Amino acid sequence: MGAKLLCLFLTSALLAYYLYTPVLEDFEEPWKVMLIAAGVRVLDHVSEVADRLGLMHYMEATRLITNIDYVAPTSDENVTVTDTEFGKVPVRLYLPRKASDGLRRAVLFFHGGGWAIGQAGARSYDYLTRRTSNNLNAVVVSVNYRLVPEYHFPIPFEDVYSVTKFFLQSSVLSQYRVDPDRVCVAGDSAGGNLAAAVAQQLLEDSEVKTKLKAQALLYPALQTLDMNLPSYQDNKNKPVLTRSLMIRFWSEYFTSDPAERAQNCPGFLDRRAAPLLASDAQLRGLPLTYVLTCQHDLLRDDGVMYAVRLRAAGVPVTHDHAKDAFHAVLSFASCPLKLAVGRRLLDRYIAWLNENL
Ligand SMILES: *[C@@H]1O[C@H](CO)[C@@H](O)[C@H](O)[C@H]1NC(C)=O
Repeated sequence: MGAKLLCLFLTSALLAYYLYTPVLEDFEEPWKVMLIAAGVRVLDHVSEVADRLGLMHYMEATRLITNIDYVAPTSDENVTVTDTEFGKVPVRLYLPRKASDGLRRAVLFFHGGGWAIGQAGARSYDYLTRRTSNNLNAVVVSVNYRLVPEYHFPIPFEDVYSVTKFFLQSSVLSQYRVDPDRVCVAGDSAGGNLAAAVAQQLLEDSEVKTKLKAQALLYPALQTLDMNLPSYQDNKNKPVLTRSLMIRFWSEYFTSDPAERAQNCPGFLDRRAAPLLASDAQLRGLPLTYVLTCQHDLLRDDGVMYAVRLRAAGVPVTHDHAKDAFHAVLSFASCPLKLAVGRRLLDRYIAWLNENL
């Protein structure tokens, strides 16, 4: 009896430890947020153990577990979904079925996950890109760029850039009946980082004749120089991205070799990795921009600074700031972990695309 009670006590204590999040008053639907935060913590601990035991790299373990969420390409009555390759890079392609009078719009979407996890076929991303395609009657290309720790900067960037260049060829645009004046890049978190970097790079690429109409940056990571910004300090332990995990993502993006990291961190001052490093002159001419930032997100100030700098450089910017949201909230816009705030912000993002693309 005593042993059973002790077991029960220990289990409850462990569960309470995992579930407890000291920030609940900030959010609506606090119990769901608590479950999400607990899930993330379990994921972190399991990956850390796997890494320390030498079973696999932390990021590989995290990816293995999060990939449980994979859904195969599945067409529905409105959208034809296929996995294919654009310029040797795997992509998931969403083609609207509805007949359209003229040419269609297109969104190149780059998923988040610290350049190390996530995929176009993750349930939440499949939901987001499918809805974008359906609601906008747009072609959506969701890119499965290569990931850390097997690949490092600049490879994830180069993969999304080469898909973008491939897609912007006039022969490809006309094959998919896409209007060359209505193409947009978009991404969340690390994907927002990639989208911002792609938009900058295209301005200087004389080989690409088609200009982007817009860029949509959802809580993007944009800089490596200050990990003690107010948003980093305020939110260092908020769901779902902690400061230590973000630092790990950034470090691993550049290299997994501690010796190399100590000497010279390749790419650290490269604006293809940190788009906020661009000069004002390099920001001029960027397309119409949507930036979403969340109050309880350590990347908040990255997005805020970019929005301010873009406006100062004459770029038309819509900056949505969500006071009641945390990082990656759009990944919680669909079942099984659906948050009202996630759904609301996803609707907002799609409405902006609909009005501006
Ligand atoms: C297809 O589009 C219609 C009209 O927008 C919508 O009512 C329906 O739910 C969509 N079907 C799916 C599977 O999304």
